[in-house]
Amino acid sequence: SLQASFVPKIKPKQVFLNQLHPRASSFKVAVLGAAGGIGQPLGLLIKMSPLVSALHLYDIANVKGVAADLSHCNSPAQVLDFTGQSELAKCLKGVDVVVIPAGVPRKPGMTRDDLFNINAGIVKTLIEAVADNCPDAFIHIISNPVNSTVPIAAEVLKQKGVYDPKKLFGVTTLDVVRANTFVAQKKNLKLVDVDVPVVGGHAGITILPLLSKTRPSTTFTDDEVEELTLRIQNAGTEVVEAKAGAGSATLSMAYAAARFVEASLHALDGDRDVYECSFVESDLTELPFFASRVKIGKKGIEAIVSSDLQGLTEYETKALEALKPELQASIEKGMAFVHKQA
Ligand code: NAD
Ligand code: LMR
Repeated sequence: SLQASFVPKIKPKQVFLNQLHPRASSFKVAVLGAAGGIGQPLGLLIKMSPLVSALHLYDIANVKGVAADLSHCNSPAQVLDFTGQSELAKCLKGVDVVVIPAGVPRKPGMTRDDLFNINAGIVKTLIEAVADNCPDAFIHIISNPVNSTVPIAAEVLKQKGVYDPKKLFGVTTLDVVRANTFVAQKKNLKLVDVDVPVVGGHAGITILPLLSKTRPSTTFTDDEVEELTLRIQNAGTEVVEAKAGAGSATLSMAYAAARFVEASLHALDGDRDVYECSFVESDLTELPFFASRVKIGKKGIEAIVSSDLQGLTEYETKALEALKPELQASIEKGMAFVHKQA
C-alpha cells in the first residue's frame, strides 16, 4: 500500500513566488488546449517559472498568436506552438509534464457530467498521443468531468501498456485554493497560512473539504461547516453563473493549475517535501480513484496521505459515505467509455 499515515509538514503555498530562487532547472512542460480560457493564463504562469526551459503549446486552432505573445516575456522558457493533430506528437516528445485543459466548459444550468459526451473523446485522443510520445511524463488532467476523465486516461494508458498510476493526476487544486480562501475570509486568518485538505472528487457533493483538518487548527460552528462546505462545493457553479454563458473558472483555475505544475516540478527536481491534493488511483477507500493529499517525488506519487481520513467529524463521515455512489458511477462511466470503443 502507498498509504502514509504521518502528518505532512505544510509550507505556505503560492504560485511562483520563488522567482529569485538561485536554482534554475530545465523541465519541459506541454499544455494541451493552450489557446483556451484556462490555457492562455496558465501558459503565462508557467512561462514565469524559473524551473521551465521549454513550454510547448498545443491546440486545434489559435495557438500561434498565443505563443508569439508569450515568447516576448523575458523569462527563460522557450515557447513553441503546435497546431492540430498532425503536430501533436512533436509537441509531446521529451516533455516532463503534460497539462490538459482541452475541452468545453459549462454554461449555466449544466452539470460537469453534461460535458462528458464531448470531453471524453477529446481526453481519450490526447492521452493516446501522450501514451505514444511521452509515456513517462506526469499527466495533469483538468478537463471535466474530472471524476470520469481521469479513469478514461487510466484505461487508455492501460490499453497502450504504459499506465503508471503514480504519474496520473486529476487536478483538484482549485478546490483547495477555494477552501483556503473562503476559510481564511470567514475566520479572519492570514491567507497564506491556511491549508484545508479537500478529498473525494471534483463535482458537487463529491467535493469534500475536511474543515476539521484545517491548519492552523481552527474551530467551526455547525452552521459555519454547512455554509463553507456548500460554498466550496458550489464555487465552480458560482463562477459559471457569474460568467452567464461565457464559460467557467479560467483565471483561478490557471492559478491553481500553475501551483500544481510548480509542485510537480519541485518534486521532479528532488524536493522531498511536496504534498498536494489530487484525484488519483487510490486505496484509501473502496473506490478505485479518490482525491486526497498525496506526497509527490521524482517518480510521481510516493505516498497517499491516509491520516486526513482518520478522526473525521460526524458531518464529514456522513458526507464521505454520501459521495461514494456518485463518484463510483462517474468513475465507472469513464472506464466503460474506453471499453465500449475498444
Ligand atoms: P475553453 O473553451 O476556453 O478552452 C478549451 C480549449 O480546448 C480551446 O482552446 C479549444 O480549442 C481546445 N480544444 C478543444 N478540443 C481540443 C482537442 N481535441 N485538442 C486540443 N485542444 C482542444 O475552456 P476552458 O474554460 O479553458 O475549460 C477547459 C476545460 O477545463 C473544461 O472542460 C472545463 O470544464 C475544465 N475546468 C476544470 C477545472 C478543474 O478544477 N479541474 C476548472 C475549470 C475548468
Ligand atoms: C470549477 O470547479 O470551476 C470547474 O470544474 C469548472 C466548472 O464547470 O465548474
